[in-house]
Amino acid sequence: MSERFFNPTRIVYGPDSLCLLPDHLPGNIQPERILLISDAGLRAAGITQRVQELLPRAKTFEEIEANPRHSTVDRAGVLARDMKAGLVVGLGGGSALDAAKAIALLAANPGCIEDYEGREKYTVSPLPLIAIPTTCGTGSEVTWVSVITHTGRRFKMSIKGPAMFPAVALVDPDLLVSLPPALVASTGMDALVHAIEAYTVKPATFVTDVFAVQAVRMSFRYLKRACADIRDDREARDGVMKASLLAGLAFGNSDVGGVHCLSESVGALLDTPHGVANAVLLPFVMEFNLPAAAERYADLARAVGMEGGSPEALALRLIQEIRELSADIGIPRFRDLGVPEERFPEIAEKSFANNSNLSNAREAGRDDYLEILEHAHLEGS
Ligand SMILES: [Fe+2]
Repeated sequence: MSERFFNPTRIVYGPDSLCLLPDHLPGNIQPERILLISDAGLRAAGITQRVQELLPRAKTFEEIEANPRHSTVDRAGVLARDMKAGLVVGLGGGSALDAAKAIALLAANPGCIEDYEGREKYTVSPLPLIAIPTTCGTGSEVTWVSVITHTGRRFKMSIKGPAMFPAVALVDPDLLVSLPPALVASTGMDALVHAIEAYTVKPATFVTDVFAVQAVRMSFRYLKRACADIRDDREARDGVMKASLLAGLAFGNSDVGGVHCLSESVGALLDTPHGVANAVLLPFVMEFNLPAAAERYADLARAVGMEGGSPEALALRLIQEIRELSADIGIPRFRDLGVPEERFPEIAEKSFANNSNLSNAREAGRDDYLEILEHAHLEGS
């Protein structure tokens, strides 16, 4: 079978690279036609103001919430059309960047975001997008997918297409300086999940493997340190930002799998932060995947320095290490998420319907997802 890799995003990486933003604007852009998409937390951290200084005539929409909602995106889409936006700048974590992608699409196409659920449903290419991540987990700055919650359906829609890759990813690890430790932990674990799933799902390729393995290695090396002191540990800050970027390059051309199928279903129902849900569910899905993915997990175990034993033994040690890492950085247990048991069948059903379910290393049916949830529930109580 042939393998391919496609990523048209220009990556600009480095400490203090935010100040290079003006150099990467399209030459013909009128300054008042730039729409900056962000969230309130970034203003509180003083980061939005820094971008506004660089783009003094841009319009700012900073109402993006965690697990961005279709209604918010539709509203910003109308704003983008009204102001005849020519460029969208997305600033924030996965929520802001995913919303920015969807808004860039709506700026160039009629209707609401639900009309574009699925792959390449747009007729006109979205506006160019500059993505500036401020967490160490999304990877959205280098992927073509936008995940938007439809609150009425309690479902996370995937909207994607080759024209949805950001034109530029401006990745500045110094933007992580004021990220609270709990967000370093949850978004950093999201990056680790991206890397592990990208490496083990069916669409993995020899190119995505390189990014995925290195992202796993860097997450193991730096995440705990970054959680302890992201402000002063420059090397760890750089490491977790690079891990997130590399994991994005990996899953953007491979896919995610069962962990994301479950976490997106839980998040759509309960608004659970994406990284937290992923981190909590990761070991349980890995245990389920063992019969199909032990060799691949063993590769990752060796990549982070584990030796000896059968592939199964190495895979189990990797799962144990992940549990310990999660506990060390304060990731809650499944029961802390407050997922009502009576909703497990609905979550299992939505996980099964998720686009990425077919990619999972091991075939997973509704009953399998139900069993994973029950297992997590038992172990977490
Ligand atoms: Fe994710």
